[in-house]
This record gives sequence, C-alpha cells and structure tokens, in this order.
Amino acid sequence: MNWEPCWLPAADVPETLRSPAQAARWELEQQNVESALSVQPQLGDAYEITDGPEGCRIMGGETGVLYGAHRLLFNRRVGLPLPVGMRAPAYPFRMLDHWDNLDGSVERGYAGKSLFFDNGDFSKDWPRLRAYARLLSSVGINVVCLNNINVQPCAQELITERFLPKVAELAEAFSVFGVRLMVSVDFSMPLSYGVPTADPLDDRVQAWWRERAALIYRYVPSLFGFLVKADSENRPGPYAYGRSHAQGANLLARALKPFGGRVVWRCFVYNCLQDWRDTHTDRPMAAYENFADLDGQFEDNVLLQMKHGPFDFQVREPISPLLLVMPHTAKAMEVQLTQEYTGQQIDLYAMQGMWDEISADLPRGTLSGVAAVANTGLSRCWTGHPFAQLNLFAFGLMAWQPMSSFKTVTRLWAQLTYSLQGVPLQTLTDSLLLSREIYEKYTAPLGLGWMVNPGHHYGPSPMGYEYSAWGTYHRADREAVGVDRTERGTGYLLQYPPALQARYRDPATCPEKLLLFFHRLPYGYRMRDGRTLIQRIYDNHMEGVWETRQMADKIQTLSAVLPEEVYQTVWERMEKQITNACEWRDVICNFFYRLSGVRDEKDRL
Ligand code: GCU
Repeated sequence: MNWEPCWLPAADVPETLRSPAQAARWELEQQNVESALSVQPQLGDAYEITDGPEGCRIMGGETGVLYGAHRLLFNRRVGLPLPVGMRAPAYPFRMLDHWDNLDGSVERGYAGKSLFFDNGDFSKDWPRLRAYARLLSSVGINVVCLNNINVQPCAQELITERFLPKVAELAEAFSVFGVRLMVSVDFSMPLSYGVPTADPLDDRVQAWWRERAALIYRYVPSLFGFLVKADSENRPGPYAYGRSHAQGANLLARALKPFGGRVVWRCFVYNCLQDWRDTHTDRPMAAYENFADLDGQFEDNVLLQMKHGPFDFQVREPISPLLLVMPHTAKAMEVQLTQEYTGQQIDLYAMQGMWDEISADLPRGTLSGVAAVANTGLSRCWTGHPFAQLNLFAFGLMAWQPMSSFKTVTRLWAQLTYSLQGVPLQTLTDSLLLSREIYEKYTAPLGLGWMVNPGHHYGPSPMGYEYSAWGTYHRADREAVGVDRTERGTGYLLQYPPALQARYRDPATCPEKLLLFFHRLPYGYRMRDGRTLIQRIYDNHMEGVWETRQMADKIQTLSAVLPEEVYQTVWERMEKQITNACEWRDVICNFFYRLSGVRDEKDRL
C-alpha cells in the first residue's frame, strides 16, 4: 500500500471480514482499543456509547456498531473525551454517486481514473476497493452508485449476466462495511433488448423490467436500486412517450419493489436546447415546473434526487425551490463533491459552508437522503488535491448531523489526517474555511454564474455560454447585468415560500452574494457600502487574487509539517490556482470595463 495520508490510519483490510460488526472489532483492535460491542439489529445505523466500571461499550445495529467504533476512535486520536450517548443519522440514505465509465474514465473526475472500472471491466484491485469501502463507512456513507448517470451503451451490461456476478462480488465486499451498491440505468434499455418501445405504460416494457429486476436480485440481493437520469441533457425518458416523470419512475419502482429495491430519480430536467433570444424561459425554473405538480404520485420506493440549487452546482446558488415543496414525496438533496465549477481539485474550495446555508433553509424532516457526486478516484490521496478529502469527510458527517460546525469538522479532519496541532492546525483550518469565499471572489461574485469556459468548465470565458442553448445567461450589456427573476421578470421568485420571496425580492435587502442571481442591475447601482456595482465587481476580483496570494503564503508555512509528497502536490496546485485567479480577475474585469466603459476608481485595469 502506497497511498497518501487520509483521516484513517493506513491498514490493509483483511479479506476475512464478513460483517460490519467484525469490521468494527477489527478497527478497534487495530488501534488497541478495548470496547465491548453489543449488536441490537433493530437499532440499524444508530448506536449508543456508554462508559461504565467495566469499560466502554458500543451498542448499536449491525452498521451502528461500526459507526460507533469510528466515532470513538476519531475522538481518541484527537484527544477528545469518549463520545458517550446515543446517535442516529439525520438521513437514512447517505449516497455517493460515481460518474465512472466502464473504460475507467470519470466524467468530471479530477482524482485520477475510476476506482471501480478499468478498460471495459471491473477493477481487480481488491485491496484498494476494500480500503475504499472502509473509508466510506468511517464517515457513515451507506449507498454507492457505481456508474455514470449518463449511461454509456456498454454500461447497460452492468445489469446483464455478463456483469452481474461481478456486481455481486463487489456488493459483498462493500457490505462488510455497511455500504450498499446502486447502478445507473438507461430508461430506454428495453429498446436494446428487442422490445419495440420503452413506454412506461406498455405491458411489454413493464414485463421486461420485472424480469430484469428478478434477474438482478437473483445475483445481487442487497442491491440498493437504480439511479436514473431521464429526459435530461438528451438522455431518454418518459416524455418521449407523452408520459410523466411519475409514470416513468413508477415503472422501475414497481419492478424493484418485490425485492426491496429503490429508484432514485433525478430532477435535473430542463430544456437544453433553448434559444438564447428567448428571455421568458428561465432554466432555474425548470425542475420545479417539471416535478412540483407530481407530488404524491410516486411509488413509496421512489426517492427524488434534487440538485441543491436551481441551476447546476455553481459557485453560489440559492436553495432549489423544489426542495421546499412536494411534502408527500421522498426527497434527496444532491451536492457535487467533484469540483466541476469550483476549482477542479486544483483550486481550494471547502464546501461545507454552502451546505450549511442550504440546510438552514430546509425545515427539519424535509429530506430522506443526501447524495453527493463523488470526488474520488485512483489518485494517491483519493481526491486529486489532498485537501479535497475534506469535502468527502464533511459530506459524510453532514449526512449524520447537518449544521455541525464547519470549523470543528475541518479541524477534526486536519488533525486526523496530518496530526497537526497548534499554529499549523490553525493555519490549515483557517485557509480551508476561507477558501470558498476567496474562490467566489475571483470567479463569480454577487451570484453571477456561468462565465466559465464551455465544455471543461475551468477558467474564465464571460461570453462562453451567452449565445448557447444551455439556458445559462447573465445578459450583460453596456448598461446592466443579471437576470430579473422577480415577478417583474421571469417570475422564478414565486416558486419560493413567502419568507424566501421576501428575502430575495428587493435588491436593497437581497443578500449581496446572490444579488445578480435575482436581479438585473445597472452598473451604477449603489451597493449597501456605497460603492457602485461595477466597482464592487472590480474590487472583488482584485481582492480574490490578493487573498489567494495570502492563502498561498500561509500554506507555504506548512511545508515542514506536512508529509513532503503531500506538500509538493498541494504547492503545485496552489501555483496553478494563483495563475487561474489572475486570469479570472483580468478577463472578467476587462470584459466589464470594455462593455461598460466605466473605469476602475483605483485605475488598476
Ligand atoms: C452537469 C455536468 C454533466 C452532468 C450533469 C448532470 O451538467 O456538466 O457532466 O452529466 O451535470 O448532473 O447530469
């Protein structure tokens, strides 16, 4: 084993482990910790840690004891008291979605090749696969989707006899750590297997999926279910047959139900062939328009997976209004750990602050699950950028306890991973806590997204998406920028409950970080601090570069305390981040200057 440090101490997982309780015992033994384990299956994922005259005890369900053991070990390693008490996860389904292709590539992957697939087949790197299952269980993730939601034709074979034995083998290895597998399926798959239609109301289609489900569960009885991207970015779906998304999802749900399987159905449905001249169609409204009216129509084993924001994982978005409706439907919120729009695991961007803001707007009990697009791969530290591990760690913890302190979680990760203390610990923690705002300042302040290079999405291109069909326009001209999404404009605002409408309606009180998401404003608009809008745009980008440099200086002070290889990887990326930040600043500021003709008050352009 030759990997870089992560929050777990390195260890080869023995092949002989068979159950989460055995894994729990092994974890404790590894670190010479004595604790009695008592498995009470009815407790499921929950556990209770107690301390008595005979020593400490972890009582929990099959998986609960494993989660309890990890929690106890985390605390011991960083010198915190024994975490006595009862704990249960906030969300029963804590999912990680891999966008891995069978050839080993990973869509939007920045951490090396796929952990699961290699050259058209399953990976045989069992030590690494077992280590991965262990890693995920240590932060309580309990479902993993193996393959890309954009299902390539060859990936349809994952649910045929060609690959099912291999899925079964992997499912067994992951079950030792309480992690169940899920596969992405193609809605039109019956067409490839001799059925003349994929219409969800057609008997032949229903029979085909029923038989398919029976076959799948004969091989993999523990399969969690299917993840489906339908009628989204040119993927097939029920709309082709004039059917609703409830009819589409229920087709699969009914087939899986006898086996206890679930359908995780994505709500990322919008018109990706929009005419940019059309100013009435507003893409952020699409998920709500396609799904909100279907509340109550889904089978009870369907989980709707909704992106956290109404667009697509931008640097900052308000909460998706769809998350706040559909009370009679099970919902999961989807976040993106892989840093597609947030620095691609080159630039630092710690995400928990974003999730905290969204969780604050979500009434308790709204969600049945959370899902994250994975940021992991074969990279030696799992995540490309060694510090991007934090996002996976924090996601797992958030799924147990939303709103736990960002600072506490970040410190815990840094202590566990690099055994840092004192000033270096503070330095790393502070840098990570600030990283999101810094990134936002040099790329997309004030809620303005989509000025990225089309295709790969790294680096600036202010007009890159302006005349495209993707529905992602900022509509900057020589007078003004932004989209009016109030009732005077596209009306998006009206999808929110009254309290949120009130928060965002008036530019004078709308949080400035989302100002240009909700409003179209002239460059001379006076911000609350007295500066003009255009001056704030210039200043933010300049500050973003300056703060990136300061962060780099701080990170340089860690060269002696981080393992050499880690520091080298981090520093190489930091240098690229500085170049990227300068490029963003210069391109965006010049873009607005040329368009508006308004000079920077401090003459820096
Ligand atoms: C983004 C991303 C795609 C992905 C899509 C999705 O648009 O760029 O690669 O397929 O999201 O979430 O389905």
